[in-house]
Amino acid sequence: MKNKKNNIKNDKKCIALIGFMATGKSTIGPLLAQELGYDFIDTDAMVEAEMGMEIADIFAQLGEDSFRDAEHEALKKAVNREKTVLSTGGGIILFKRNRQLLAEQAFVVSLSAQPETIYGRVKNDDTRPLLRCEDPLLRIRQMLAERQVYYDNCDFSISTETWTAEACCQKIKEAYKKG
Ligand code: S3P
Repeated sequence: MKNKKNNIKNDKKCIALIGFMATGKSTIGPLLAQELGYDFIDTDAMVEAEMGMEIADIFAQLGEDSFRDAEHEALKKAVNREKTVLSTGGGIILFKRNRQLLAEQAFVVSLSAQPETIYGRVKNDDTRPLLRCEDPLLRIRQMLAERQVYYDNCDFSISTETWTAEACCQKIKEAYKKG
């Protein structure tokens, strides 16, 4: 008997990468898109282009809510695309409106890494306003704890520290093709 859920997945022409900041979405996304002959787009980049500002400036000058509204509009456009790999901002899953769009329209792949690894990847990078604080590692742990339930709600998940980017791509590709 055919698995109805799998058939739905086979229909999904958009693959969305979710996961905490610095879990490898913008490294794996373009590689995966290339492998599949798909386009690559990124909700953060769409927001920056739409607003003509960098994310850190949007947070500082307009506030996080403005960013979240623009992020939702970007996601609405992005999930309608066919043959597309979409990288999403780490906080996109915090909102039910975004979780619904993702679940309905995309094959959702969750990328993960340990807090220490994430910290190592972001510590010299000041583009992430939510990690500008006294103790970024503690903040990463707290945010991960709050968000984990949403990152776990996906069609496929993979650790980007256990596997190389190329191996991650292969595994994601296999899971996507199987549906
Ligand atoms: C955020 C993650 C960032 C960016 C913004 C907020 C978050 O994207 O959308 O700084 O809430 O986790 P990346 O996950 O691509 O760093």
